[in-house]
Amino acid sequence: MKQITAIYPGSFDPVTNGHLDLIYRGCKLFDHLIVAIARNPEKETSLFGLEERIEMLEAMTAELDNVTVDAFEGLLMKYCIEKGANAVLRGIRAVSDYEFELQMALMNRKIEPSVETVFMMPAEKYSYLSSRIVREIAAFGGPLNGLVPELVEQHLRRRVDEKRAATIEIPSK
Ligand code: PNS
Repeated sequence: MKQITAIYPGSFDPVTNGHLDLIYRGCKLFDHLIVAIARNPEKETSLFGLEERIEMLEAMTAELDNVTVDAFEGLLMKYCIEKGANAVLRGIRAVSDYEFELQMALMNRKIEPSVETVFMMPAEKYSYLSSRIVREIAAFGGPLNGLVPELVEQHLRRRVDEKRAATIEIPSK
């Protein structure tokens, strides 16, 4: 029978419980799931560097035998072909995600018709969760329990402290 390798692409800045929910669902459906962090050197607005994002994702998926973590640069469809992947996994949380996801899925299909995009819904409790909102809560010292794993919370608290320390101005004499 044909083996299905799926790519789950994203920024994962940082990985949230919503992403993990999707990874758990995806690894039951596909033979091999590659969680692929998009590297965008022009967009240096990420809170975490690529290495740290990989480290967090690897730690959180270590017990899933058919899941690997990787990074890619450039076109997703080129990366899919490189990896011999036949599917892309994307999560849809609410209707508001649909328009962008539809555009991306159809454009990807135009670029590479052999790769299918598969949409899955995370658990309802994660439908309002995003990496952006997690970064914002962390920046203001808000509660992160239930939104990200404990390890990711530790990374967030440390990163926010580092950023704060770096922006404290040294008073001039
Ligand atoms: O987590 P995100 O930010 O929603 O992920 C978006 C991502 C990385 C999946 C998307 O921007 C992407 O696929 N980038 C790679 C470049 C590419 O192939 N662009 C054309 C998409 S139609």
